[in-house]
Parts: sequence; structure tokens; C-alpha cells
Amino acid sequence: MKVLSVGGGAREHAIVKALVKSNTEIYSVMKNRNPGIAKLSKDTLYEKETEVEKVTEWAKSKGVDFAFIGPEAPLGVGIVDELEKSGIPSVGPSKSASQIEISKQYMRDLMAKHNLPGMVDYRVFDNVSEAETFLKDYNKEVVVKPIGLTGGKGVKIMGEHLLNMEGVLDYCREINENKIGGSSSFVIEEKMVGEELTLQAFCDGSHLLPMPAVQDHKRAYEGDIGPNTGGMGSYSQEDGLLPFLTKEEYDNCVDIMQSIIDAMKEEGTPYKGILYGQFILTTKGLKVLECNARFGDPEAMNVLPLLTSDFAEICSGIIDGNLASKKAMFANKASVCKYIVPKGYGVESLVGEKVVVDEAEIENSGAELFFASVNQRDDQIYTTSSRSLAVVGIDDSIFDAEKIAENALSHVKGNVFMRHDIGKKELIEKRIEHMKELRGE
Ligand code: GLY
Repeated sequence: MKVLSVGGGAREHAIVKALVKSNTEIYSVMKNRNPGIAKLSKDTLYEKETEVEKVTEWAKSKGVDFAFIGPEAPLGVGIVDELEKSGIPSVGPSKSASQIEISKQYMRDLMAKHNLPGMVDYRVFDNVSEAETFLKDYNKEVVVKPIGLTGGKGVKIMGEHLLNMEGVLDYCREINENKIGGSSSFVIEEKMVGEELTLQAFCDGSHLLPMPAVQDHKRAYEGDIGPNTGGMGSYSQEDGLLPFLTKEEYDNCVDIMQSIIDAMKEEGTPYKGILYGQFILTTKGLKVLECNARFGDPEAMNVLPLLTSDFAEICSGIIDGNLASKKAMFANKASVCKYIVPKGYGVESLVGEKVVVDEAEIENSGAELFFASVNQRDDQIYTTSSRSLAVVGIDDSIFDAEKIAENALSHVKGNVFMRHDIGKKELIEKRIEHMKELRGE
């Protein structure tokens, strides 16, 4: 089978690796040359992923059987609809179904309308003085989110990024005036305190097949401090749960995601593709923080290397609407992913810096390597403003997997940094203690 892969990050490198394991032939589209994807591709179009007409023309000329869309931006401009008009089916939602990620308002309104579990208090504003009036009588801490896409960096939390009510209003004003995320509207939500987790699922419009749970680390610096990022690394546990997550809670996450795709089907916008649920375990129960219309990055690198079922078969199940007859099986192994990012990432990245990667030594160390937003020129790799590459350790426990990832980091040199604490005992224990404290144990 010939597959069109759209996107040039580490998530897409993981998707392409998994598709190649399923004996497919890859035709990739990416803006910069990601050496990992380029090496695994039969042919590559270097183009912006949002140029949907150009991408579709190229895919048609290559005779691809289906497309796998990695990032959210092309979904938001309707790449799946455009490809389908040309007879190319996709793993990824239509433009209208991708609103689950593209519009924070759509997601919250859908959950409210269908009275879905996991809801939080929220209000949408397009006017800062109305928000100010609302906040005067709202005696709880809040989170402010732009409506549209911000690469995971738009959410600001009172008490963390926003010091007080004045800071909250300043940020509302900034979104409103600068149209951050493409809109002057913003969502104000009640702040939730707890531990966050990601659950990803294959969806065919009606059924879903869930994957192991993962915990990402959004903050740039060790100890969970600093600016929000796209994610600095992540881990998963050998039993598919997390050190602070019970089987019952995991099943509740699956039920909530099923209720979301049921609601979307009822609305006439069936959801096909990968659904990403970001949850938080709180004293008020399990809450949905976000839904994304694609694999998580880094979370894709945790789960895809563990997939033992045939990935291309699952993709066919998504496209044909018959996932109910398929299985998604994963190895009973833990994984730890650590990202290597340019100096300054999260504030102002050093762009165009050379990164030296000893691929052979990384392979010898037993880790998997995923190239991200680097640019390869004349056999050298250079940083862009985004994350550069990720290493993943896989083993019987989180701590063993962490050691593999950590050893691999020493084989990358350059003006870069990483979070060494991800997957280490100290941080995991902090998570467990935090949940025990919240549960009153
Ligand atoms: N890891 C966060 C995301 O993919 O949105």
C-alpha cells in the first residue's frame, strides 16, 4: 500500500516508522527536511502542509491509497475533505470534525449541550469588559485560553502564569487585541488542580480502540517550572496505566471519549482518526482539559513503538468504519521519551544551530531516535524554532526505560537543552504523592 504522510515532526517520524513496519510505501509531505522521515520515504514533497491543493495534486500523481495526517494545522484547513474529493481517504477528521481541537469553544459547547461527563465551568468572551464584570463575582481561580490553535502554548493558569486577577485581564486583553490563535475570543474556565494524563484512541466515527495512557510534561524546565511548551517529554507504564491512575479511572477516560464521539456522530460530524483526550484527575473527579484531533507529540512516541497489531490494518479499520472488528494490542512495556530542544526554546529559540547526532551510538544504547523540527542541509542538522529530536527508552519498568533514554541523550551535542528529570523516581513519586494528598489518603 502507498501512504501519504503529512507532517515533518517527531510525531510524524513515529507514524512513518510504524507504517513502514506494516510494509507500506511512504510518500511524505513536509516543510523542512526531517532526515528520519526522508530516509523512510519513497518520495518527498517539500511544501507547507497547509497547502492542501498542492499536496492533493501531488498525492494523486503518486497514486497513494490513503493519507495519514499528523499535525492539526492541515486538518483545520480541510486537507481531509480536499483529499477525499480526489478519492483519497484519510486517517484524520474532516474540517468540521477537527473543530474538536481547532475551536476550544466548539469542544466545550459540545460537551455542555450533550451534558457529557468530565465538564468544567466555562464562559466564552469576545469582550474584555464583559469578562471583567463576570470575574468580579466569580470567586474561583481561572484558566484563560485563546479559542484557536497556539501550538500548546496559549493556555495560561492563574497562580502559575498569571499572578492575579489583573494578570488574567491583561492576558484576556492580549488575546482580544492580537487575535492570538486567530480569534479575538477567549475561554475562561474554572482552574482544575490535579494530575494530568493523555489518552489517545483510534476512532472510526462510532467505535474507538484506546491506547496506553501517557503523561506529558508541558513546562520547559526541570521541576515543572518555566514557560509552557509543546511538551518536553513523556512516559507510559508497562500495564497501560500510570503510577497515579487506576484501571477504573482509565476506563472512565475511555467512556468519556466514547461519549464525545457519540455526541459528534449525533451532531452529523462523525469523528474519524486519532482522538487525543487530555484529562485531569481532581478532587471533583475526572475532567476533560482538551481534545486534540491527532496523535500527541511527544505521546505518539510512547505508544506507537509499543503497538504490536498491524498499524496499516488499524488505519483501514478507521477509514472503512470497521474498527469494531479490529484489535489494537500493545507490548507490556514502559516507555520514556525525552525531547532535545534548541537553547531558548519556550521563550526565543536559537534557530539555525548545528546539532550533532551520533545515530549509531543511540542505536547501540538501545534507544529509539525520532527527528523533529530540524532542517537537514548538506548532511548537517540545524535547529528550527521548535523541538529538535526525541529519544525513547522502552523496557520493563519506567525507571529502566528512563535509564535507556538518559544514556542516549549523551550522544547528542549542540546548543540544546533537555529535561533530565522526566521519568525519574523523584518526579514520579511527586506525582503519586500529589494524587494521594488530593484523594485524602
Ligand atoms: N503533547 C501535547 C500535544 O500534543 O498537544
